[in-house]
Amino acid sequence: MRGKKVTIVGAGNVGATVAYILAMNGACHHVVLKDRNTEIAKGKALDMSQAANAARMHTIVSVAEQPEDIADSDVVVITAGSPRLPGMSRDDLLMTNAEITKHVIQDIKLYAPHSIIVMVSNPLDVMTYVAFKESGFPRERVLGMAGILDSARMAHFIYEKIGYGAGQIRASVMGGHGDDMVPLPKFSTVAGVPLSDVLSPEEIEDVVDRTKHGGAEIVGYLKTGSAYYAPAKSTAIMVEAILKDTKQIHPCAVYLDGEYGYKDVVSGVPLVLGAGGAEKIFEMTLNEDQEVRFAKSVTSVKNMIEVLGKNNFFA
Ligand code: 2OP
Repeated sequence: MRGKKVTIVGAGNVGATVAYILAMNGACHHVVLKDRNTEIAKGKALDMSQAANAARMHTIVSVAEQPEDIADSDVVVITAGSPRLPGMSRDDLLMTNAEITKHVIQDIKLYAPHSIIVMVSNPLDVMTYVAFKESGFPRERVLGMAGILDSARMAHFIYEKIGYGAGQIRASVMGGHGDDMVPLPKFSTVAGVPLSDVLSPEEIEDVVDRTKHGGAEIVGYLKTGSAYYAPAKSTAIMVEAILKDTKQIHPCAVYLDGEYGYKDVVSGVPLVLGAGGAEKIFEMTLNEDQEVRFAKSVTSVKNMIEVLGKNNFFA
């Protein structure tokens, strides 16, 4: 049987940490790092290969020096993207990262046409949409990582409020990975105990608010970059569920084709992850407040897709 191969495009903090997690737990046989800066990628690949030997792990970490080196990847994780540079508007950043994604997708189409794409670059939902449109892959094979991360952040913030139950908190977040994400306290529990039985409405509101700004809180401390341990772990969870065909349910970004009443947009929803990618998408019954918040989140993603359209991106 052929060993599993995962390509990671972008060997920055998130990409390299995903590679490191996969190499340390032996989730696949071969991790390929692809980065514009081949030297940095080579240094990190060498370092991780040595770590794999120390851990007595079989995973090989190498660098794609030619586009065809990504051939036969089972999963391709995309973390490549530009950070917001001085003088750049949000729309400029959107266009720049959409162009980078388009370019990356061309190689994936050519050399890894059967792979499953896991998008990590921001703005996450729009980049997942771009990857879907540009690849022409079925939507099951184009997923975005955000819901696992946002839910993990919410779980941690709940823990900070109550001081017990770490690791037993199941928090739920759906919608886009932005300020309009939709934390779902009503669907969150501490080992099965509803959140409303352990926290007051005000405390729950605090948790919801902090979750929405969970990424910014970390940028505030790091100053020159954003979070990468939790984003990388969340990505690795998706990759492992696909490679091992676990059929676990996770919130992931996926192209909606009528689910929740939305079409032609990407948003985060719970789905079954397995060898086929998104094998089943769940349409949860939302109450009015949840529906309104989800609509707002979908609209903000649609607005960004429109900006790309107005700039003839999809022409
Ligand atoms: C985060 O939420 C920047 O999307 C990244 O940490």
